[in-house]
Order: sequence, then structure tokens, then C-alpha cells
Amino acid sequence: MARSSFVVVANRLPVDEVTIGERRTWRRSPGGLVTALHPVLAAQHGTWVGWSGSPAEPGQPAPEPFELDGMALHPVALTAHDVERYYEGFSNSSLWPLYHDAIETPVYKRSWWESYRRVNQRFAEAAAEEAGEEATVWVQDYQLQLVPAMLRAIRPDLRIGFFLHIPFPPVELFMQLPRRAEILRGLLGADLVGFQRPLAAQNFLRLTRHLLGLRPRGAGVDQDGRIVHAAAFPISIDVAEIEALASSPLVRARAEQIRAELGDPKTVILGVDRLDYTKGIEQRLKAFRELLSEDRLTVPEVVMVQVATPSRERVEHYQSLRVKVEREVGRINGDHGRVGVPAVHYLHQSYSRSELVALYCAADVMMVTPLRDGMNLVAKEYVAARVDLGGALVLSEFAGAAGELRQAFLCNPHDLQGVKDALMRAVQADQTEVSRRMRAMRRHLRAHDVRHWASSFLSALGVPSAALPASEE
Ligand code: ADP
Ligand code: F6P
Repeated sequence: MARSSFVVVANRLPVDEVTIGERRTWRRSPGGLVTALHPVLAAQHGTWVGWSGSPAEPGQPAPEPFELDGMALHPVALTAHDVERYYEGFSNSSLWPLYHDAIETPVYKRSWWESYRRVNQRFAEAAAEEAGEEATVWVQDYQLQLVPAMLRAIRPDLRIGFFLHIPFPPVELFMQLPRRAEILRGLLGADLVGFQRPLAAQNFLRLTRHLLGLRPRGAGVDQDGRIVHAAAFPISIDVAEIEALASSPLVRARAEQIRAELGDPKTVILGVDRLDYTKGIEQRLKAFRELLSEDRLTVPEVVMVQVATPSRERVEHYQSLRVKVEREVGRINGDHGRVGVPAVHYLHQSYSRSELVALYCAADVMMVTPLRDGMNLVAKEYVAARVDLGGALVLSEFAGAAGELRQAFLCNPHDLQGVKDALMRAVQADQTEVSRRMRAMRRHLRAHDVRHWASSFLSALGVPSAALPASEE
């Protein structure tokens, strides 16, 4: 197969390999990273290097590279052992909680680190194999922080970018991390390290001084005579895709049908998240329960729909979160539901893009209340879907998206009273206020879609403009 001039390396491919009956097939994989990068890479006809989402037998080769939507996909094999130590262990039980303000206590095990290092080396080798002479390689997210330096060691001719989709912690928190210097040196293998928010880029530059004794100047730091740049590039979504879905007669009809199936309530409140402890799902449910108990909201005039996508189901923190969320849903429905009319419709399932957009269009209030989130694309998708200028967004100040969607009903998810007040203001807002806020957020989003994100990052990386994704008009 021809080598590529543009390669994306991410933990997951945009599709997961799944078995339905006897048949092996591919299904879109979860999360914001895929939502953002899929349209960018498809437009570039690049190569995507990533894991297929299911464990391989030891010694079993990775599935053969294949084509999808104009992209070349290069699967990397992970054994059950790698999945347990590199993915569930170091990535999702050490780094994920640490980088999200240690909301849950990070766990550190030496064997996890060894696996993280080995798997990062495997990804670096796969990228080196795919990349043509002087190609651009764009490495993604916290699972692959060692790849930039490993890749540079194999292929010094490449232009290497790295983007972190999640928050980057302040110096004091990062210093907890065993092997912290190796992680930082791994990132410094890139020419450009991108973050969601300016504060994260500052944290990174500060750390290079504190931990490695380097001397950052402005937005760059000299590493062995090479300047590594660090800056914020807030990620976004394919606004045109969501708008097209939201305007289609089928999706509009489905949105109406959803409201009818919910019993035509006056107000539909919606939450859509991976079932993750960073997302503030429990806090949101608790706020709703208290408002029902205080009779400030009543069923069936108001109902809540909570979609909670299954995620990282073998990791303990995720298992205990599921128990807590399901107990809370049961409690609310036990206290406030009626026969045939639950107060909360809880859906632990994945949906198609069109069904999600229909849900967005059906919801009067969208609640996005993470305790900490790099960006939160669900918030942006809701705004993009509201071509009718309807719908009120309640948004946590701790989501990266709050830096841009300033006209949302902002709240501090740690302050339950504050969440309740923001929800009530959103429920009670009149149509003029709702559309004024939505119009302003939509204006921002249309000028800052995912192509804008990708082309800002790639032009800062020095990729010639001819090779950049075209922006939506
Ligand atoms: P994260 O990257 O932490 O999962 P984001 O909010 O940034 O969070 O991105 C989540 C992405 O996953 C969004 O594009 C959203 O539409 C999608 N998504 C969330 N829940 C579901 C679901 N139940 N079915 C299908 N896609 C989902
Ligand atoms: O950016 C957050 C992130 O971890 C992405 O890397 C990933 O695509 C998404 O969340 C979903 O997580 P996972 O791949 O662990 O299911």
C-alpha cells in the first residue's frame, strides 16, 4: 500500500470491530475524538492508525489495513493483557482521573507503565511504517503521550503534531505521576503540542521548567535545539453535518415522535454522556430529584431523558458509577414516577447520529454538567442542532466548551443549589431569551467548526495550506 503524506494516530480507530451473531463487522466507535477527526481525515484521504477496539489473541496479527469513507485504516493489535494494563490500567485508571482533577483517586501500578510504554512503541512503529517521506503525523490524546518522541527517534524527517483532548493538569497534580519526566519528554518529541484551553498550554510550559529545567519563552520551549510550540486549539464538530440532519424531514418527524412517546410533556430535559464519573450525571440527577421533591418541577409536565453510553465497563470506577446512577434513577422514578410515566427515562445504549440529533431537537433543556471536561462536544452538537433557535443549554463552567458558549446557562456542578437554579432559569426562560442566547452561540460555532480547528492546528504546525481541510462557508 502507498505511504501516506498525512497520518493520524489515535488509540482507537473511528470504528470498532464487533461480532453480530457469527458475523464480524465494524461499528462507529464512541467519544468526541472520533466525532471531530472523522470528517477531517475523510476530507484529507489520510491514514488512521489505531486499535480495533477488541482484544487480539497473543501472537495474532492485527486485521489487515482497509479503506473506509476515503480513509486508509491501519489497525494495531492489542492483546487482552495490553487492554488490561495499557488501556484500562495506565490510561484510564492512572492518567484519566489524574488529568481530570483527581475526581476519583488515580491508581498507579508499575506493570501498567511497562505496558503503556510497550504499546506506545507499537503505535510509533505503525505510524513510521505508514508515513511517507517528510509526511505529517498527528498523534492524539493521553493514551499516546510517548509516541511523539518515539516516532521522532525512528523518523526524524517527519513533521509531528500532538493534540490532547482532555484537560492538562496543573503542576502540583502532574507531579504525582510516577514516570512524569518520561511523559513530558514523550510530548516534547512533537513540533507542536495542542491543548483545548490556554491554561492547559501554560501548565505544560510551566512543567517543562519545573520538571526538566527547560526555559520556555512565549509559546515555545527549546528542546535540544528544536523549538516545541504549545498552544490552545479548542476542538469542535462538523456543524454542517448536524445542521443537515436537524433540518431533514425524517429527523424532524422523529423529534416530534419522541415528544409524543414521552407523553407530550411541557418540558423535556436531556442529558447525553458516556457513562463517566467526570460528566456530573449524578449531580444532575440529584438536582432534578430535589426540584421534584420541592414541587418546583412536576411530572408529567416535565420529564428527563438521560442517555448514558456504555464506557470502559471493566474499570472499577465505571462499574461503581453505573450502580450509583441506576440507584438514583430508580429512586427518582420510585418517588416521582407514575404508571406509564417515569420521571427519568434512562437509556444505557448507543444511538445513530440521526437519533441523537432527533433527541437534541426534541429537548427543551440540555444539561451538560461535567465536573471537568476537556471540551464536551455534546454541548456543541446541541447548539448546532437547534437550527430553530429553540432549546436552552445548561453548561458546567468546568467544561472547555464554557470558554466559548458564554450564552449558555452556566453553573458550577459542585454547587448543587447553583445547578438547580441554572436548571430552573433554563426551564422558565421565555422564547425571546432562549433564541437570543442560542443565536449568539450558533454564530460562534458556525465560525469555529471542526475544519477551523484542524486547519488552525495544522497551519500552526507548518503544513502547507494546500493540504489543509477546506472550511465550511
Ligand atoms: P467524550 O469525548 O468524553 O466522550 P464528548 O462530549 O466530547 O465526550 O463527545 C462525545 C461524543 O460521543 C459526541 O459526539 C456524542 O454525540 C457521542 N455520543 C454520546 N453518547 C452517545 C450515544 N449514546 N450514542 C452514540 N453517540 C454518542
Ligand atoms: O478524549 C476523550 C476520549 O478518551 C477519547 O480519546 C476517546 O475517543 C473517547 O474519550 C472515548 O473513550 P474510549 O476510547 O476509552 O472509549
